[in-house]
Amino acid sequence: MKKTPETTAALRRSDIDHHFHPFTDPKKLERVGSRIIEHGKGVEIWDTDGNKYLDGMAGLWCVNVGYGRKEIGERAKEQIERLCYYNSFFMSTTPTQIELAKTIAELTPNGLDHVFFGTSGSDANDTATRLVRHYWDIKGKPGKKAIISLIHAYHGSTITGASLGGWRRMHEMGSTLQPDHIHIMPPYWFEFGKNEDRNDFGKRAAKALEDAILEAGPDKIAAFIAEPVMGAGGVIPAPPTYWPAVQEICRKHDILLVADEVITGFGRTGSWFGCDTMNIQPDVMTMAKGISSGYVPISATVVSNSLFSVIAEGGEIAHGFTYSGHPVACAIALENIRILKEEKIIEYVRDVAAPYFQRRLQEFADHPIVGETRGVGLLGAIELVRNPAEGIKFPESQGVAARCVEKGFQNGIVIRGVRDVLEFSPPLIITTQEIDTLLDRTRYCLDQIAKEEVLAS
Ligand SMILES: Cc1ncc(COP(=O)(O)O)c(C=O)c1O
Repeated sequence: MKKTPETTAALRRSDIDHHFHPFTDPKKLERVGSRIIEHGKGVEIWDTDGNKYLDGMAGLWCVNVGYGRKEIGERAKEQIERLCYYNSFFMSTTPTQIELAKTIAELTPNGLDHVFFGTSGSDANDTATRLVRHYWDIKGKPGKKAIISLIHAYHGSTITGASLGGWRRMHEMGSTLQPDHIHIMPPYWFEFGKNEDRNDFGKRAAKALEDAILEAGPDKIAAFIAEPVMGAGGVIPAPPTYWPAVQEICRKHDILLVADEVITGFGRTGSWFGCDTMNIQPDVMTMAKGISSGYVPISATVVSNSLFSVIAEGGEIAHGFTYSGHPVACAIALENIRILKEEKIIEYVRDVAAPYFQRRLQEFADHPIVGETRGVGLLGAIELVRNPAEGIKFPESQGVAARCVEKGFQNGIVIRGVRDVLEFSPPLIITTQEIDTLLDRTRYCLDQIAKEEVLAS
């Protein structure tokens, strides 16, 4: 529903006065005011000024089944009226928690059968951290505490999540970096290996893990955590040689492998999980976002049978959240999974949407300010450079990706920028015509930026 301009102005003023936004510069917000999104349907969202946008980011990589699903609302209402809340502490549970745990265990790769619920991707990674350290304590190896992760990775915004992630700015805010978190080179060919054969680079990036393990000592390392395909850090699929080598290294040095599936889970890469697509066998998987398609907050940390059997020897689990397995969130997640299955959405991504999207994305490769396009499933990235032939980057101050994102909004699309990378993660139900709209408008925005750059030089 379109609000009158007065109402929008009043909302904007209250927003500035009282709403403390995440990942936002408060001074800029005060100057510019926020975009107030009011409703959504399918792949589209509308703001209170009546502007319509094709959401190429599915919210924040999460609204996989699209906006405005009435059946999810009905299932939520039914569950709220039946049982609005009960906890899973102290030997209790509810039918929806049990059903969702069983459903997730059936979907995850073989052997990952024990599901611990939370409410966000960040807390799922905190849970994973506590559980892997607890596991090594019970195994009589209390020295194994450190966790290795990747530069540019995103693992959340709690102290543990931000510290595990590889974003310097997040480490700096609130002195967040933990002493036993080690960050290594990611399998990011365009940034770290451009003059090298991709497969050789994949092996070298895996060797960075082994080097870090050997430097600290395998008896000090609890786990390696990574996204099967790095998402927010720039949509970075690893070269094919990377994951087999990483798994071999983890096995050899007795290091647990934690797969952060918060973005890649529930169909994003054309399989149920990124681990299926990349052929990874983790010991622990964390997931959030796509479990409920973002309709309500819910997350899960899924551990392997062998990990669980050790943890079960350690007595009571001194960990949990009031809303671990919230029955309404579980009911919504079950409905979301039902939709994914019955509408064969993951098969549609694998067979139709992703091949089309990736082919159209590759058409950007010879654009005058594009250095590389990459992606997998319905995840995509366009890496912007000033001079692709000579590999000259834009100066950081130019903020080319941010400018392109802003032009996107002006032209009715939502995309995201990180460093000089444009990122795409549309709802999984996007049609091929909507993919055309998203990418045609992106090209128009890129052309405008390229023209501005020529005029400025
Ligand atoms: C890979 C990954 N892990 C963890 C998180 C943190 O999830 P949340 O924001 O729900 O805490 C995110 C969020 O974008 C993510 O992309």
